[in-house]
Amino acid sequence: MSNIRLNIIHLNKVDSTNNYAKALLKNGEPLCPFSVIYADEQTAGKGRMGRIWQSTRSNTLCMSLIVPYVHRPEITLLSAIGVHRALSSLTGKDLQIKWPNDIIFDNKKLCGILTEGTPEATVVGIGINLNDTEFPADISSKATSLRLITDSTFSPEDILCAVAEEVFSVILGADCLMNNNLLDEYNSVCANIGRSVSFGTNQRGTATGIDQSGALVVKTANGEEKISFGEVCVSGIY
Ligand code: BTN
Repeated sequence: MSNIRLNIIHLNKVDSTNNYAKALLKNGEPLCPFSVIYADEQTAGKGRMGRIWQSTRSNTLCMSLIVPYVHRPEITLLSAIGVHRALSSLTGKDLQIKWPNDIIFDNKKLCGILTEGTPEATVVGIGINLNDTEFPADISSKATSLRLITDSTFSPEDILCAVAEEVFSVILGADCLMNNNLLDEYNSVCANIGRSVSFGTNQRGTATGIDQSGALVVKTANGEEKISFGEVCVSGIY
């Protein structure tokens, strides 16, 4: 049993739970430890690399955790481990992580994570597709939901606590660092490994794993490259 006592803030509608969390921090609001914000509806959800995160009321869990550490790259990967553990246990399915922090099933995205640093803390924003049975045309071949993979419907409250507790426990338990056990766990479920990946300007190679800093290691024709940030396309995924 977890000894984490979550402080849950539930909003009906907000632009972005990440923005809301950052505003609380900026305004110096006194915050209980293990604060989690979740919203029934986001009007301007944000994804990685400046993208838009689309979500629909009751089909998506939109939540942000306030982690009381300044940002470091490992938090991004540790969050993915926590979400992967929680969703694997909830679904009983063989989920994977696409570097750095998408949770995927059968090569389709189930969950995205956006970590944002502030001077006071790190906000870990998590979007999980719950009950969608179809997606907009531009993402329909790339996305899946808990409903599609389990045939059951979920309310945000069904999974919010399990996910938040696991993510806090992985990040704080590891002191924001990737130790060897966590590195092995990440590499054992990382969908990039052994696959052909493209990155940067027309660079290509085979992903061999991640290193202690969380960088993706890629074997290319010109030697080994370490990718710390940016977009990586994985052959056969998206
Ligand atoms: C991605 O896959 O590009 C990251 C998506 C992150 C979406 C979540 S939903 C809750 C939180 N609030 C946001 O505006 N974004 C994150």
